[in-house]
Amino acid sequence: MSNKTKMTISDFKKFKQEGKKFSYVTAYDYTMASIINDSDVEIILVGDSLGMIMLGYKGTESVTMDDMIHHIRPVVKGAPNTWIVGDMPFGSYNVSDEEAVRNANRIIKETNCDCIKLEGGVEMLSRIQAIVRAGINVMGHIGLTPQTASSLGGFKVQGGTPESAKKLIEDAIALEKAGCFSIVLECVPSMVAKAVTEAVSIPILGIGAGPHVDCQVLVTQDMLGMYGDFKPKFVKQYAQIRKTMVEALNEFHRETLEGEFPSPEFSFNKEVDIPKLY
Ligand code: KIV
Repeated sequence: MSNKTKMTISDFKKFKQEGKKFSYVTAYDYTMASIINDSDVEIILVGDSLGMIMLGYKGTESVTMDDMIHHIRPVVKGAPNTWIVGDMPFGSYNVSDEEAVRNANRIIKETNCDCIKLEGGVEMLSRIQAIVRAGINVMGHIGLTPQTASSLGGFKVQGGTPESAKKLIEDAIALEKAGCFSIVLECVPSMVAKAVTEAVSIPILGIGAGPHVDCQVLVTQDMLGMYGDFKPKFVKQYAQIRKTMVEALNEFHRETLEGEFPSPEFSFNKEVDIPKLY
């Protein structure tokens, strides 16, 4: 059981200055959040990846504000010692600054999470500035941005040319200036991630971004071997929970068929004098 305390906004900069690494995973429900809260992992993202992992969609575009709020609330309850990030879903910040602030306010007010995350580089500056001005902590997200992956040519490594690497560095610098306290950097070559990490004084949280970033991010269901649909190259599986669960379910099924379960140990064994009615 971890004796960690929740990170503060100033810890993020301090960790970066001191070169102290930290880790970040996803959760979408109370039980998983409470398990992560018992671990040493410092941050939980309630990501719009819940569209695939929890709701069985093909992508993240159909996830709504109500879906996000429904899933962020129990995570906040389950993980009081862990920094909780609420993802802004597709369509909740692409219309206007006002609507972006309204939706960011909703996430914070209705869930009590610690910050919001939104995707995009320099094109999102006015949104980020408006949300930061409203007093809300903002985590950026550049590189592969799943909500707009089709316009990036699909789910592919980003920053693989000198021009696109330069754009990522410029995006990171601009996001820091706009007030982001940290930035997720997804699916980029390790040496590009290193350059982005060195270019800013806020932490770079890498997923598929190699070893030189400040923090490593993984989707919990991927790294525990729970999600069966596909496994990206950058995912290391630290357990095979899906296999363990299927084995346990099959054992329950076999014991049920063979009358082995429930044994007296799992039954209420009080003697009762039952009136003869039949
Ligand atoms: O929604 C999500 O899980 C994410 C991670 C891939 C960083 O945005």
